[in-house]
Amino acid sequence: MATNPVKITETVLRDGHQSLVATRMRISDMLPQLEALDSIGYNALEAWGGATFDTCLRFLDEDPWERLDTLKAHLKTPIQMLLRGQNLLGYNHYSNDVVEKFVQAASKHGIGVFRIFDALNDVRNLKVAINAALNCPEKPHVQGCLVYTISPVHTNEKFVELAKELQGMGCHSVCIKDMSGLLEPYVAEDLVKKLKAALDIPIELHTHCTSGFGHATYLKAVEAGVDIIDCALAPFSSDTSQPCTETMVAALEGTERDTGLDRQAMTPISKHFLNVKKRIIEEFGLKGYFDINPNVLDFQIPGGMLSNLANQLKEAGMEDKYQDLLDEMPRVRKDAGYPPLVTPSSQIVGTMATFNVISGERYKMVPNEFKDLVRGKFGRTPVKVSKEFLTTTLKIDEKDIIEDCSIEDAKGKTFEQFKAELIEKGYLNPTDEDVLSYASFPQVAEEFFQKHYNKITAYKR
Ligand code: CO
Repeated sequence: MATNPVKITETVLRDGHQSLVATRMRISDMLPQLEALDSIGYNALEAWGGATFDTCLRFLDEDPWERLDTLKAHLKTPIQMLLRGQNLLGYNHYSNDVVEKFVQAASKHGIGVFRIFDALNDVRNLKVAINAALNCPEKPHVQGCLVYTISPVHTNEKFVELAKELQGMGCHSVCIKDMSGLLEPYVAEDLVKKLKAALDIPIELHTHCTSGFGHATYLKAVEAGVDIIDCALAPFSSDTSQPCTETMVAALEGTERDTGLDRQAMTPISKHFLNVKKRIIEEFGLKGYFDINPNVLDFQIPGGMLSNLANQLKEAGMEDKYQDLLDEMPRVRKDAGYPPLVTPSSQIVGTMATFNVISGERYKMVPNEFKDLVRGKFGRTPVKVSKEFLTTTLKIDEKDIIEDCSIEDAKGKTFEQFKAELIEKGYLNPTDEDVLSYASFPQVAEEFFQKHYNKITAYKR
């Protein structure tokens, strides 16, 4: 009997398909196996947030709130969501009341674990979401993230300091979020040991196999005492996704950290999801797999974005520019003050790098989002961006450089303003959830509402 079993959070319903098939799994793909998944004994099932909200509305003709209700009706295992702090699930900072309403609604609809991160590891961007989750009457588990990255300024000691801050803010656990699979096995061992020594709350590790370290990194982290690891069932594991659940369960069998989970019970579930994966690849014309690439250590693109980028370039008939783009990413990232590359900073840096490669001249066309990132609108960058780069290369006005951004500087519309906008457009009496969908993705949500006008209680026609 294991003395200190490792817990597993299963990601097949969120990160697994986000990393390998552009987040195209439907609720109907999940339904047949929800009871089986529920009976495994996972720490949590990650099934909501991240890119799922956007793809539900945009590509799958599903209401993300209804999806959550359906999941909740079939699952007793806590449902985990990934939330981008003050960004929620969108790409901009929202006002505090929108963040609070979103968190409250997600909790009410059944989120049991809030995993909350900020792309710049700026804790000021996490405060509102963390507090809102801590105050929900349903008492969800609140997890703060260290967004893991490598750069000349990121050290394990600094990550431990950040983790202590998260514990101090009331988080129930801390997750090392290694979205691009950059965490090397022995570095993971050192980081987990230091975190275990400094913190009183559980430590979870989330990685991707993008560079090929995944399973080895988990093994060293487990030896160092990590409490929870994120894994995906075989068909949605490996490559740019999480290490494989069955493999990790088998690797730990008979050791003092045996998970105690029944590997055989996973076989029929995996069989189902293999067919789901095949169907999605065919339906959406996706690639569905990505070779392990140790060069990710240099270009640092998260799994989910890599699959999107490859498919976008394929659609545009520009597959030959792929390597140029991967080479340009680290250069742009350095110019931008070494932000960790995770949504939305990954998209912002990725788009900037794409523009540089396509136009053949660096910083000829500069999207506003990139200017916002480097001038400090989203919070502090790990390294201060040089003034010359800001004013000469990007031609940003000196008065627009934000020396020390607080959430207030980036204030967006309030919940009531979003609601009034919807009513103005003729959608009378929208539910809070409709308003939150609209606040997150205005255009996409409106198109969805038009198709499903009966969803809005009194649609004016
Ligand atoms: Co991930």
